[in-house]
Amino acid sequence: MANTPPTQDQNQSVVDRAREVIPGGAQTGLRAQAYNTGDIAFESASDATLTTVTDEQYTDYHLGFGPVILGHAHDDVDAAAQAAIDDGVLYGAGTTPLEVEVAERLVDLLPSVEMVNFCNSGSEATYHAIRLARAATGNKKVLKFEGCYHGWHDYVDVSVYPPTDRVGERYPESDGMLSAAVENTLIAPFNDPEAVNEILHEHGDELAAVILEPIPHSVGCLLPRIEFLETLREATAVHDVPLIFDEVISGFRHSPHGVQGEVGVTPDLTCVAKALGNGYPVAAVGGRADLLAQAGGDNESGVVISGTYSGSLPGLAAARETIDTIVANDVQAYLTDLGDRYRDGLNDLLEDHDINGRIVGHRSIFSVQFGVRGEPHNYEDILGLDEKRFHTFAAGMRERGHFFTPNPYKRHHLSAAHDETHLESYLDAADAVFADL
Ligand SMILES: Cc1ncc(COP(=O)(O)O)c(C=O)c1O
Repeated sequence: MANTPPTQDQNQSVVDRAREVIPGGAQTGLRAQAYNTGDIAFESASDATLTTVTDEQYTDYHLGFGPVILGHAHDDVDAAAQAAIDDGVLYGAGTTPLEVEVAERLVDLLPSVEMVNFCNSGSEATYHAIRLARAATGNKKVLKFEGCYHGWHDYVDVSVYPPTDRVGERYPESDGMLSAAVENTLIAPFNDPEAVNEILHEHGDELAAVILEPIPHSVGCLLPRIEFLETLREATAVHDVPLIFDEVISGFRHSPHGVQGEVGVTPDLTCVAKALGNGYPVAAVGGRADLLAQAGGDNESGVVISGTYSGSLPGLAAARETIDTIVANDVQAYLTDLGDRYRDGLNDLLEDHDINGRIVGHRSIFSVQFGVRGEPHNYEDILGLDEKRFHTFAAGMRERGHFFTPNPYKRHHLSAAHDETHLESYLDAADAVFADL
């Protein structure tokens, strides 16, 4: 039977059916935002291309919120995962050579990591990290920073995107959160060493952990001032409070050594996920051996770290292959150069079209932000974003074949499958869309 070409109706039918059985028509609220630029149902992806059920193709700058660092359907990563599948996906007892090999790579590459526990998502990793820190200190309170996202659980889903009139106070991001958890989460502005010193001075004895994205990409890109990171390191060490770097986005995307390796500030615990497995569900919490050893399972009062699927073999095989490919090919050098060229090209276009806006980013990540200028240092610096203009920009780029999530606070990602051709095509499209803005 001949293939019938898909029609726009097929797209609509998938979306309509999705809306009947899936809240918002997508697996997460943020994924549902793709509907801001028109209903969309994707069916396949390879290299830097995403394809819809109606065979429309887009260059993908979303990359599943960042994990796909080597490109979609990467042959070697998929072959490694397939080989693991062929050997059975889950044993659920004892250990395996594969998990030891991936753990050893994390210990070798990430300065803070002496021992590792695997899990499946960034949220699990930050949850485990906080539990380890609470157990070690006997304290309850956790300090986090406005604009940093550490996952969906009640300990940390506070003051990620507070509305303007709630900046500076604890802002629970979801209904249904446990008030005791929210009350035990302290918040501070990013990049403010004085605020950190004050809070540590006042609450040092009650704090279980300080957690941050060393580069908060959950709001585009806030580059950290080195004195801020150094103050955090010193103040937490003085008060014996574990410092947690959430490198779920940055780990293995910016450097195999993490931002901690780039800036020379070593936390006590580190969470990695996303780029670790090029899109396969695999994540880890690692860090000081004495903290991790609490989860050794060999004493009655120890920390429970649990999960039927933790250390699942296809994810670990993907992680081993992804790490080895990144390291062997110095993927970050390539992506940093390409990222610089996107940023330079976009900055030139903003100037040519006299548009009030800025391009922020680091290495393979960039964000186009309208209505604001200058380098952002904290959450307040992104409050004036022109959301409407960004939506128009995202829709115009999508019409021209370039997909990124139409959320003005999010970011573009590049992969090793992006190249010169994608760059030129993107900048040509941006030129045309900027002309109409
Ligand atoms: C910095 C950071 N931490 C934690 C998480 C949570 O990870 P996951 O969505 O895998 O649970 C995310 C997810 O976007 C993240 O960006």
